[in-house]
Amino acid sequence: MMAASRSLWLVLLCLAAAIIGGVLQAHAQPDNIGFISIDCGLPGTASYVDNITKLLYVPDAAFIDAGSNHNISAEFMSPQLGKRYHDVRSFPDGTRNCYTLRSLVAGLKYMLRGTFKYGNYDGLNRPPIFDLYVGVNFWTMVNITDADTPVIVETIVVVPDDFVQVCLVNTGSGTPFISGLDLRPLKTTLYPQVNATQGLVLLARMNFGPTDITLADLVRYPDDPHDRFWIPWVDTTKWATISTTKRALNIDDDKFEAPSKVMQTAITPLNASQNIQFYWDPEPQPKDPTPGYIGILHFCEVEQLSSNETRQFYVNLNGGLWYPKAYSPPYLQTDATYNSNAARGFTHYNITINATATSTLPPLINAVEVFSVISTTEVGTDSQDVSAIMAIKAKYKVQKNWMGDPCVPKTLAWDGLTCSYAVSSPARITGVNMSFIGLNGDISSSFANLKAIQYLDLSHNNLSGSIPDSLSQLSSLTVLDLTGNHLSGSIPSGLLKRIQDGSLNLNYGNNPDLCANADSCQTSKGESKLAMYIAIPVVLIVVIVSAAALIYCILERQKRGPTNNAVKPQNETPVSHVPNSDASLRLENRRFTYKELETITDKFQRVLGRGGFGYVYDGFLEDGTQVAVKLRSDSSNQGIKEFLAEAQILTRIHHKNLVSMIGYCKDGEYMALVYEYMPEGNARNRGLLSWRQRLKIAVESAQGLEYLHKGCNPPLIHRDVKATNILLNAKLEAKIADFGLTKAFNRENDNHISSNTLVGTLGYVDPEYQATMQPTVKSDVYSFGVVLLELITGRSAILRDPETTSIIQWARQRLARGNIEDVVDPRMHGAHDVNSVWKAADIALKCTAHASAQRPTMTDVVAQLQECLELEDARAENGDVNSGFYTSSTSDPYSSYNTHADGQFTDVSQSSTAFEVEHNFGRVPTMATGPAAR
Ligand SMILES: *[C@@H]1O[C@H](CO)[C@@H](O)[C@H](O)[C@H]1NC(C)=O
Ligand SMILES: *[C@@H]1O[C@H](CO)[C@@H](O)[C@H](O)[C@H]1NC(C)=O
Ligand SMILES: *[C@@H]1O[C@H](CO)[C@@H](O)[C@H](O)[C@H]1NC(C)=O
Ligand SMILES: *[C@@H]1O[C@H](CO)[C@@H](O)[C@H](O)[C@H]1NC(C)=O
Ligand SMILES: *[C@@H]1O[C@H](CO)[C@@H](O)[C@H](O)[C@H]1NC(C)=O
Ligand SMILES: *[C@@H]1O[C@H](CO)[C@@H](O)[C@H](O)[C@H]1NC(C)=O
Repeated sequence: MMAASRSLWLVLLCLAAAIIGGVLQAHAQPDNIGFISIDCGLPGTASYVDNITKLLYVPDAAFIDAGSNHNISAEFMSPQLGKRYHDVRSFPDGTRNCYTLRSLVAGLKYMLRGTFKYGNYDGLNRPPIFDLYVGVNFWTMVNITDADTPVIVETIVVVPDDFVQVCLVNTGSGTPFISGLDLRPLKTTLYPQVNATQGLVLLARMNFGPTDITLADLVRYPDDPHDRFWIPWVDTTKWATISTTKRALNIDDDKFEAPSKVMQTAITPLNASQNIQFYWDPEPQPKDPTPGYIGILHFCEVEQLSSNETRQFYVNLNGGLWYPKAYSPPYLQTDATYNSNAARGFTHYNITINATATSTLPPLINAVEVFSVISTTEVGTDSQDVSAIMAIKAKYKVQKNWMGDPCVPKTLAWDGLTCSYAVSSPARITGVNMSFIGLNGDISSSFANLKAIQYLDLSHNNLSGSIPDSLSQLSSLTVLDLTGNHLSGSIPSGLLKRIQDGSLNLNYGNNPDLCANADSCQTSKGESKLAMYIAIPVVLIVVIVSAAALIYCILERQKRGPTNNAVKPQNETPVSHVPNSDASLRLENRRFTYKELETITDKFQRVLGRGGFGYVYDGFLEDGTQVAVKLRSDSSNQGIKEFLAEAQILTRIHHKNLVSMIGYCKDGEYMALVYEYMPEGNARNRGLLSWRQRLKIAVESAQGLEYLHKGCNPPLIHRDVKATNILLNAKLEAKIADFGLTKAFNRENDNHISSNTLVGTLGYVDPEYQATMQPTVKSDVYSFGVVLLELITGRSAILRDPETTSIIQWARQRLARGNIEDVVDPRMHGAHDVNSVWKAADIALKCTAHASAQRPTMTDVVAQLQECLELEDARAENGDVNSGFYTSSTSDPYSSYNTHADGQFTDVSQSSTAFEVEHNFGRVPTMATGPAAR
């Protein structure tokens, strides 16, 4: 029964230029539907749009910094050849060369597709064989068998980081090259066989029975929103085609979402009493001699059956039932049978579909996909280390062998790096030697993100600028060599401290402008504080803590008189007072009488805002400085304790991103705080701000919070971070306000931090804090994540959509679909770097992780947001989004249809390796060892 004659893939071909795109974007980032479509080797910076798919192809320079461009040889050019095949990028140097695709969402599924047409670009007439990796995991061997036939490979994997690398590895059988590279996001629910440790590699994806074999029958985007290539498969000697013009619908939890255009056509056996049969042969890989296979058979009834008709059949693999029950496809609904565990070890995979005894109609099938499984258990270097070292590489334009993962595999670790490898956790970068390589510019702030680094050697370069104090936070760092550069300024106090306590060995000789003694070289900083005003938030539940009574007494004793701001150097020299030590309570600010406030505010005429504490009034000091006066009202639900807490905090902390207090008033029952005036209001409803302005606000307010958490000893928890507590001065610089709820987190005395009443504002409160009643610095990180989402989306923390949802849930759901434009504030009119927004959204999601341990620290957040800012700045430099231009597509693969019409078929068993589809150009494409009709 199985011995039917062997038949062949019909190979059709097709595909015109693979093109992708959508909306024009300048460079290395997903477009507005999350696609990245790269024409590898395309010179220049101009992108082009294919006029069939309307997808955008971008040149590859922004994704890779190695290799060289070549045109394919003229003899392989034809007017019909898709533009992406006109040129290639080849990699004569280095074992491993990688493309880096950024701005992805860590943990989501992506489809990646590489295309390769050799075209004798190097004149050697020697098609190469090389390996392809997705990240640090083997994807497939690419075996180019002839110069003309393009090879197309595809994989579906879960991407563990917010970027993915595709690496071509030279295995000694010729120079690797590539023609095109595509990335498509997939919903997490699709292809359930794909998880964090297992990926799929496509062997074949066939569309049975397209009615009219023309180009239109290679189904892809936009007919398939996921842009899979569905290759037509017709065998008129064995199969009849049936079809419908009605749409086939995807049901709710459809795991494959086969497109209607594919599912509207099907085949049945020509002779109704026969079976449908086809097979594929396993294709051993160097790393996996007996690959496991996943088959997905797509079914949809396309005929309206009358009540006395049935179509029911069995699906068999190698003569045994593959799907355990008799099956009837649903009418105009897509459905599929598939295996969850890979089938392995057969010499042939024969699929037979036979009607049950009671079926009145023959079996049908609409489409089939066959994949082999790959393991994705190999983990790369710690992702924070990777982003830091990649930022360093980009900043200093390091060439060397800095390609792919920095530490993995060991044999390809980057020159100059030392890594530690643990069994159960990712590799870490523990040493960086970048001496004597001519580094210019300042010391990258990204070094401070290499959290496991022990040894950093930047000696004998041309580095200038000051030494970042953030390096002192690297607790494992024991050797820092900066000898022989042009660094200036003083050695930051944090580093001095580390040197003094013996934990760090710093070499800084031969830096003529560097001042080793901090006292003698302090430069005076512009210290005059602008006035500011505080918008008072509505506090939902208020509680206080704090050694308020003590402070109160000291306030009372305080002499009035302008001491003005004896401000400590900003950003440095954390004031390390314990809150209830007397010394810290000496207020250095001016004390006002109520009468003076009346004069300053012209009898409390102009109200700037209002909050739980009372009103905030506009005022002018004697010297004309505009100020904001926050006067406590008796009916206020915010008490004396918060007032005092805020006064106390503001007198001891100073940072450019925290509002500063000019003075206070405690005059009889009157209490007031006088702040610097912040004319631009708060960060809420700032719909007219550009993406760069929003990012700047995010970075600056994050720095303010980082200072509270890291620069203050003990750390301070703000506890009421929200958009209305981020104020903007005339230069739109952001400062955090309202410290009424701020708590010192005293590690020595845990009792002091626990408070048994929840404080904060609805929509911003950390669920873990809510559950434990124990606020931590990570509670502020959570609230900050909400603020970041507000900045990205222009929406508020609680949405009526129409049901009440949190912005977190709202954004998570949309981002899971991989569509950033669904989330971004439309008032930005798309004027933003997509990578930058994706990254910011990713940071916001991490900040709002349910478990506090999974949230980053504010230090991490600052570093990541600065990278967002750099991405956005790069976009601005490169001239904006619309620098690409449209060109018409040149693809026209009709020539090979004649081949098909003539009934020539390629015998699968002779076909070459990869799943080759896109070729045609006058030749019959071959189907790898893909399925064959029988
Ligand atoms: C992924 O799927 C494979 C095969 O079903 C299974 O063995 C493995 O445990 C899964 N891995 C994860 C992380 O769920
Ligand atoms: C089903 O019923 C229709 C009439 O309703 C008849 O024409 C047709 O032959 C029947 N088909 C079968 C398979 O019995
Ligand atoms: C599958 O089909 C091939 C080719 O027709 C045949 O040689 C082989 O015996 C079949 N294998 C099984 C397990 O049915
Ligand atoms: C269909 O194929 C299966 C497996 O080859 C076989 O067991 C079954 O008897 C067949 N059914 C019919 C109705 O031919
Ligand atoms: C693309 O558009 C150009 C100009 O509009 C047209 O001449 C050409 O035929 C189109 N190409 C295809 C493949 O449709
Ligand atoms: C590459 O493909 C050719 C043609 O199918 C085959 O002969 C050769 O063995 C393959 N090379 C490798 C390394 O698999």
